[in-house]
Amino acid sequence: MGPAEKSLSIFFALTHRAWLNRSMKVALLVESLTGNTWKAAELIAGNLQQEGWTITGLNPVKKPDHLALQAADLIVVGTWVHGAFIVGQSPWGIGNINALPAITGKRAATFCTFALNPGKTLGAMEKSVNRLGADVIGGMALHRAKIEAHSEEFAARLMSALAVA
Ligand SMILES: Cc1cc2nc3c(=O)[nH]c(=O)nc-3n(C[C@H](O)[C@H](O)[C@H](O)COP(=O)(O)O)c2cc1C
Repeated sequence: MGPAEKSLSIFFALTHRAWLNRSMKVALLVESLTGNTWKAAELIAGNLQQEGWTITGLNPVKKPDHLALQAADLIVVGTWVHGAFIVGQSPWGIGNINALPAITGKRAATFCTFALNPGKTLGAMEKSVNRLGADVIGGMALHRAKIEAHSEEFAARLMSALAVA
């Protein structure tokens, strides 16, 4: 391949990558008691929207918007860590996550907010969301004192994971 062809193929690869990013539709489902996880979800949605992604819905896990889920390519599920802070941590509302409608064939990602130590919360969330039929591409624990920075980081990870997927 000559230099001109090489730069043309790099151009197409980048354009394709930008197009893939631009076309993603995302639905977010959230459990939140004191607002941290909800705020994180809003920040994540805002960051993704800034890059051209479409948010089809942002709803409580207990009140999923079925049309928003159907329209989405990626479902993001967020909750908060509940436990005895250094032991027994688990995702709050896991029963509600388990009761979500099947999202077979969709990609999904999980996040939790925490104060001290998330323990195995993300692993438990991934198991539940996988059981709904989704392909979980990743997850991140966001410290409640760093919600803005960690939400931005999570959104960036989602964008790079799906740009090459
Ligand atoms: C009853 C209770 C138990 C908690 N247990 C833990 C815990 O085990 N580990 C931890 O890191 N944070 C724990 N937290 C902190 C929350 O996970 C954190 O504040 C989270 O951001 C709350 O999210 P929300 O504002 O969306 O409800 C606990 C909070 C509460 C109210």
